[in-house]
Amino acid sequence: MSFQIPRGTQDILPGETEKWQYIEQTARDLCRRYNYKEIRTPIFEHTELFLRSVGDTTDIVQKEMYTFEDRGGRSITLRPEGTASVVRSFVENKMYGDPNQPIKLYYVGPMFRYERPQAGRFRQFVQFGVEVLGSHDPAIDAEVIALAMEIYRSLGLQKLKLVINSLGDAESRKAHREALINHFKQRIGEFCEDCQARLEKNPLRILDCKKDRDHELMMTAPSILDYLNDESRRYFEKVQMYLTNLGIEFEVDSRLVRGLDYYHHTTFEIMSNAEGFGAITTLCGGGRYNRLVQEIGGPETPGIGFALSIERLLAALEAENISLPVGKGIDCYVAALGEKAKDESVIIVNQLRKAGIVADKDYQDRKVKAQLKAADRLQAKYVAILGDDELDRKVINVKDMNTGEQTEVPLHSLVEYLKERLR
Ligand code: HAM
Repeated sequence: MSFQIPRGTQDILPGETEKWQYIEQTARDLCRRYNYKEIRTPIFEHTELFLRSVGDTTDIVQKEMYTFEDRGGRSITLRPEGTASVVRSFVENKMYGDPNQPIKLYYVGPMFRYERPQAGRFRQFVQFGVEVLGSHDPAIDAEVIALAMEIYRSLGLQKLKLVINSLGDAESRKAHREALINHFKQRIGEFCEDCQARLEKNPLRILDCKKDRDHELMMTAPSILDYLNDESRRYFEKVQMYLTNLGIEFEVDSRLVRGLDYYHHTTFEIMSNAEGFGAITTLCGGGRYNRLVQEIGGPETPGIGFALSIERLLAALEAENISLPVGKGIDCYVAALGEKAKDESVIIVNQLRKAGIVADKDYQDRKVKAQLKAADRLQAKYVAILGDDELDRKVINVKDMNTGEQTEVPLHSLVEYLKERLR
């Protein structure tokens, strides 16, 4: 019997994992600079949490959740996204009582959605995300967007497009909702069953429908921007002003509604416009959610955040032909010939590693020639070759693999010799 990995998931193997670590470290370092702190929440939550937050008319909740009953008969769901869990934790741990407001958090971890797998779309994928809770200031919207852009830029990506929109406050959304219902209701019969159900429950979702995307009524649907009240309009203008002041280019697209229900005011997505990038070009999505904390049982608290997947980030790097500076080789390979030398090499690699030198040796009982080949495959910068004769004289031969130059070094000063050269 042979086993295969489940559809829509992937093994990330050595050679690739280094890139993941590099990306995660870059994002962590930037979060540190922007003063965001890491939060770790469980991979599964009570299903109800996602119904409440992501929204029960969204595709995520209706079609994509991995939901199961646990042995205690509770309905559990593998998290399809991170915001709901962070907000749940914010409320449960009473972070709103912390004198340091706003609370600025980041997270990285796997998310699960039962989607149709294709390039850039997985059933398990890793999101890096941030959430800021407790500030109404449009400057924080700009900060969150700037941080997302900075993650991509510092990895070398250039072909990026930032699209922003505003969904307005509750009053603006209500006015827009009525306009949408009026717009679609006469001809709703021409739309898919999901859209028909959405008309009264959540007409904004119709604009996000993948099946009816090309229907003529979609093109002429009322724009949210025409329904923003004065306060929402001013808020949106401020966000745009801050972005401009930070030198961040953007486009306003009133059709950007996002696939989750919790947004108010600012929404945004970052796309790759690199040539040859697959059909799915959205790298990152986010926005403001001012009602969510209340919805989940906490005090009225505004929030904003984004999430990006590492899978799509890697695809964007590939599309722009960017290779990350991930160290591949080792510093020193210790080759031994003879029984005594072999025993001694165990001690030598140990000493090198203790001194911070990346070192390895043979464990396959190879001949010296094969050991040198192995050192080559491991891209060793130096090979230290020890025979029983050298051992008697307490010396070792060090070969610089770059220049081919060989030097006899006293055994007791090998560590210092290599450290000097590797600096
Ligand atoms: P989202 O737009 O559903 O938003 O997902 C954010 C990002 O996750 C996408 O832009 C994409 O990079 C990645 N992503 C989503 N689905 C997949 C998939 N099947 N395979 C690979 N990558 C995927 C959210 O999740 C919100 N929680 C973002 C947010 C945070 N809003 C406020 N705070």
